[in-house]
Amino acid sequence: MKRRFAIAIAALCFGLIAAVESNALDTYIPGAPAGNIGNSRHNLGSFGMHVGTMSWQYGTTEICTFCHTPHFTNVGANFAYGLGPMWNRGSSAPTSFTAYGATIGGTTIANTDVGSTTLACLSCHDGVTTFDTLANAPGKGRIVQGGSDRGFAFYDFVGSVPVADYMTSARLVIGLNLTDDHPVSVVYNENVAGLRPTNTVISSIDLTSELNSSATTYDNGNLTKNLWSVRGFISDTATIQNLLRGPYGAPGNRVECGSCHDPHFNNKSWQEIDSTYTSVTAQQEGLTNGQFLRRVGGNTGSGVCRTCHEK
Ligand code: HEC
Ligand code: HEC
Ligand code: HEC
Ligand code: HEC
Repeated sequence: MKRRFAIAIAALCFGLIAAVESNALDTYIPGAPAGNIGNSRHNLGSFGMHVGTMSWQYGTTEICTFCHTPHFTNVGANFAYGLGPMWNRGSSAPTSFTAYGATIGGTTIANTDVGSTTLACLSCHDGVTTFDTLANAPGKGRIVQGGSDRGFAFYDFVGSVPVADYMTSARLVIGLNLTDDHPVSVVYNENVAGLRPTNTVISSIDLTSELNSSATTYDNGNLTKNLWSVRGFISDTATIQNLLRGPYGAPGNRVECGSCHDPHFNNKSWQEIDSTYTSVTAQQEGLTNGQFLRRVGGNTGSGVCRTCHEK
């Protein structure tokens, strides 16, 4: 009897420890889906958890519709920025943005270069376009080419207060000025900025040998594994080429917002950013999406930066 009790207690303790550990940090293995958008800040429907539509009467419970639609996508002849894939949002024109300009490597990025996988993100993160500027709103025949504001009412579910329907959270407004951001819509030129060859297999990059040995065990050893989300799954075979996009979204040779971020990947593997956020008292900031970074382990040890730059 006594022995069984002890075993039960031991099992309980072990279970508790395991639960605490798994809550703190998720481990993603190659082949695991890079998803969980429904439980992230990118769920703007009324089943969302931060900013979302108040209820279906004043918006929708759908999730994908804020970015994609199965029909009548926003790539008609009158809307030529090539936004994709299956893009459902209106967006500011490329020329509304001030692009990065000239780099030290001698690459120039003009306003007209701002490409579709960057415009896609900025169609909410520009601080101007409303979240419900949709080409094909949920329901019958609600099609407006180019997109129009649907008058949805938005809520901050954590604080249960009505909020504006465009990006107000200052840290998330990238804005119309892209000169103060890492270059986007920039051609990946292997001959400058210490950039690695595009055919480099990402998981083969050595990110630890120059660091203190304790770095090899930090964050489940993600610096050693260097796994990134590519084509919807955590990959150990992807190359840098797989991170690059063309001006119209398809594979190409440029770095865009989507090179470093996967908007569907609620990346719960980044201890450092999690602990940064726990010190923030504002309720809404209490949970992070790992910045939707493609890299498992986020930017620990500047792993995101050093994947492209051999520095
Ligand atoms: C906040 C905007 C946003 C939402 C919401 C969103 N997506 Fe996406 N999606 C994108 C962007 C941007 C891309 C292009 C990413 C790239 O270039 O890799 C994309 C690409 C895709 C792709 C092709 C590339 C890949 O990663 O597999 C699929 C499939 C996809 N989305 C499915 C969905 C589904 C299904 C939903 C709803 C559950 C959804 N998306 C919700 C922005 C979004
Ligand atoms: C449909 C609108 C929409 C689009 C399109 C969109 N986002 Fe977001 N994003 C949001 C909202 C809303 C939030 C959370 C706002 C808040 O918490 O105040 C957010 C939050 C984020 C965050 C913070 C996550 C965290 O851990 O705190 C990042 C990073 C981000 N988005 C990047 C992107 C990138 C990169 C793209 C393009 C691939 C993109 N977003 C496209 C609406 C959008
Ligand atoms: C070269 C890689 C890279 C590119 C390209 C990139 N980002 Fe990021 N982004 C990051 C990293 C790394 C972080 C986390 C930075 C930190 O923790 O302060 C981040 C953070 C963010 C955040 C959250 C900021 C905060 O302080 O919470 C937003 C929003 C965001 N990115 C949106 C975008 C958008 C929109 C684009 C395209 C215009 C973009 N990113 C392009 C690497 C990138
Ligand atoms: C997906 C690949 C990629 C990633 C990841 C990446 N970079 Fe870059 N970075 C580039 C490219 C491409 C350029 C443009 C180089 C050029 O043509 O001069 C660049 C340029 C730069 C420049 C030089 C800008 C100038 O004006 O000359 C700096 C600094 C830089 N990156 C820092 C970073 C940092 C810090 C990170 C991590 C937060 C990072 N990069 C992540 C690809 C990347």
